[in-house]
Amino acid sequence: MKFGFFDDANREYVITTPRTPYPWINYLGTQGFFSLISNTAGGYSFYKDARLRRITRYRYNNVPIDMGGRYFYINDNGTIWNPGWSPVKTELDAYECRHGMGYTKITGKKNDLKVNVTFFVPQDYDGEVQQVVLTNEGSAEKSFSLFSFAEWCLWDAQDDSNNFQRNFSTGRVEVDGSVIYHKTEYRDRRNHYAFYSVNDTIDGYDTDRDSFIGLYNGFNNPEAVLANKATNSFADGWAPIASHFKKITLKPGESKTLVFILGYVEMPQDQKFEADGKTINKVKAKAMIEKYNTPEKFEAGMKELKGYWDKLLGILSVSTPDDKVDRMVNIWNQYQCMVTFNLSRSASYFESGIGRGMGFRDSNQDVLGFVHQIPDRAKERIIDIASTQFPDGGCYHQYQPLTKKGNADIGGDFSDDPLWLILSVSAYIKETGDWGILDEMVPYDNDMSVAEPLLEHLKVSFYHIVNNLGPHGLPLAMRADWNDCINLSCFSDTPGESFQTYTNPKFAAEGGYSKVAESVMVAALFTYSGPNYVAILKHLGKDDEAAKAQAEIDKMKKNIMESAWDGDWFLRAYDANGEKMGSKECEEGQIFIEPQGFAIMSDVGKEQGADLKTLAAIDERLNTKYGLVLNNPAFTKYYIQYGEISTYPGGYKENAGIFTHNNAWIICAAAYAGQGDQAFKYYSEIAPAFTEETSDIHKTEPYVYGQMIGGKDAGADIGQTGKNFGQGKNSWLTGTAAWNMVAISQYILGVQPDFDGLAINPSIPHEWDGFKATRQFRGATYNITVKNPNHVCKGVVSMEVDGKAVDGCIVPYVDGQKEYNVVVTLG
Ligand code: GLC
Ligand code: GLC
Repeated sequence: MKFGFFDDANREYVITTPRTPYPWINYLGTQGFFSLISNTAGGYSFYKDARLRRITRYRYNNVPIDMGGRYFYINDNGTIWNPGWSPVKTELDAYECRHGMGYTKITGKKNDLKVNVTFFVPQDYDGEVQQVVLTNEGSAEKSFSLFSFAEWCLWDAQDDSNNFQRNFSTGRVEVDGSVIYHKTEYRDRRNHYAFYSVNDTIDGYDTDRDSFIGLYNGFNNPEAVLANKATNSFADGWAPIASHFKKITLKPGESKTLVFILGYVEMPQDQKFEADGKTINKVKAKAMIEKYNTPEKFEAGMKELKGYWDKLLGILSVSTPDDKVDRMVNIWNQYQCMVTFNLSRSASYFESGIGRGMGFRDSNQDVLGFVHQIPDRAKERIIDIASTQFPDGGCYHQYQPLTKKGNADIGGDFSDDPLWLILSVSAYIKETGDWGILDEMVPYDNDMSVAEPLLEHLKVSFYHIVNNLGPHGLPLAMRADWNDCINLSCFSDTPGESFQTYTNPKFAAEGGYSKVAESVMVAALFTYSGPNYVAILKHLGKDDEAAKAQAEIDKMKKNIMESAWDGDWFLRAYDANGEKMGSKECEEGQIFIEPQGFAIMSDVGKEQGADLKTLAAIDERLNTKYGLVLNNPAFTKYYIQYGEISTYPGGYKENAGIFTHNNAWIICAAAYAGQGDQAFKYYSEIAPAFTEETSDIHKTEPYVYGQMIGGKDAGADIGQTGKNFGQGKNSWLTGTAAWNMVAISQYILGVQPDFDGLAINPSIPHEWDGFKATRQFRGATYNITVKNPNHVCKGVVSMEVDGKAVDGCIVPYVDGQKEYNVVVTLG
């Protein structure tokens, strides 16, 4: 069942009922000021840091789920409603929400009054602009009132939600004409304030929550709106809000347009106040308001935003036989990748904005999804991440975006972390041809006195694995590898211990983690990422070093086949007792997804058919109609030696949930192995545009990936197997976005940047006749046509560039050439 439709021409998802199966959100802002906005206008805004500069308040895990946001209330002769339906929930005569690229338009209609609100954050602007267009579509004159509403957060979202003994006494506001200012703590230690303005006169205002809503009322029935009259309240402590009140009369057919602005201002210390030393200096706020105080200026801002997205999305566009693929590749997957660039894992409807910083592994993987759109910022991001690495190649698992320093509370020793840096740097060079990045001086642990060229960081990353091998010559698993919930040195029996940071004292003498537990996933990630390091060394003429590194990769492949090949698939790990994990010999958790794709893509055991055997086992054991589960059978009891994974009921999260991030690795691997049909099957099981049809089951947004989908075992332990099978969770901020972008564009469609130029080597469904793609790459436009006359999945039989036959499948790069016309024929 669907709750809307894609409007591809406008790059919008159009939601046609406010009762979506979960709040369906969008992000506004691309630089400093960000807003989350749901299809009923719930959500919140912050400046740069969702915890430390929270501008408006939002209550997570609320009842009902999505309460609090920026709301407009209409009182039309006693009929009270919101254009976005919630929170009043009066039935509307018409409702529509259009989530677009960096903007959201919500339209509601009731009793001949149509109210359309467009929300966006302009480029280079620290505020959310809201244009409200009210139209009388009836044949009689209408008089009604409009109330705006926003609730201020007292800046630090964490403190705001628990330090009530203080916070109930600090709230401060100013009102100046039609502008309400929020200035809590501005008198003392803060140099920033927020404001909410409207470009017209008002008939009253409220700034105190209890006066506006009433202590025993809710967002759904604020007293002031019921009374059809603002109280001109002035917050003094308690909960400061901002609400404008305006009486409006419209003749039949007449419209009125108002522009509201929710802005954020920082002031230099010596200019904070007016001459009286008390009143806030509003010069900057007034300039901001001036910038968007007419519909014409509003339109110009929207046009500029569209230009920004035209440019970003113009770098890659495809035309395939499947509309759903086109809308994922050309619009929504690329959009989601940019959102992960901006937000990392900080603020969504599942991430509270007060938790995690930037993850070392997460951020490196995100780069793979957006490097083609914003190579310069990708470079900056890579250097920020690499700067938190230790001299021995280990890494802080997380760093703080504001300070860019490693997070000592979480620490390091996550065994996979260093390898993702090799992948992100390689992706950057392949995209740009900018080998200079390797010469950038990058500190260790943010200490410039021990900086070395980035190339050395790659070296210590590579050898960090080689220098930390276990009894089978496989990488030590340490606290966790990519799977945060496989914690083989933890043996935790006390509630509340963090599986990621707690290591059992029995390993203290060994340096904090077992020297027996080994990760096959990291072994395979090593053989997959390592060849990039070798290619870089060869390019630099460092042949001896390249040969040495290659020998380590070859040895690792041998070790995998000797000790980690289970006959039909690859093992997952050896635990701290030296027992196999992810083997047929195990009672539960016999096969895991994570090592398989990387092993296939590095040709481990290919000569004995390991690739196709493994793909067959995956299809049989892990595949479902909603995607590939992480492991099978699910764990039904707590295995203390495995850590967090078996704490989840089967079918959820890392315990046999469909963890979409690693589905992409199998999609890539199947495509790599020439199984284009299998690759596309898995792609279409999870790609949002395909799940749109089952939105009632999937629940989260049909235009973006979520981290997890309930697996086939969900509900089994309560005797309701399949209960939440297919149900999505944790949408938006996930490495799934980047990896599925890679899977569809580079592996299935096969348009793959390589060190030497653009490679075109598709692995598509055999029914396809071909497809077309346009790619901006290293300053040139590539017009690509792929033909598939014999209906194969993979295999380039000829490539023509500008009419001339070329060997292989890399388009030869000619310095200065601006356009390439490429025809690839499969057969
Ligand atoms: C989450 C984390 C990611 C981890 C994954 C699997 O998505 O952000 O770092 O790899 O879970 O545990
Ligand atoms: C939990 C989650 C995992 C996440 C980790 C880090 O272990 O299950 O997905 O990556 O926390 O916060």
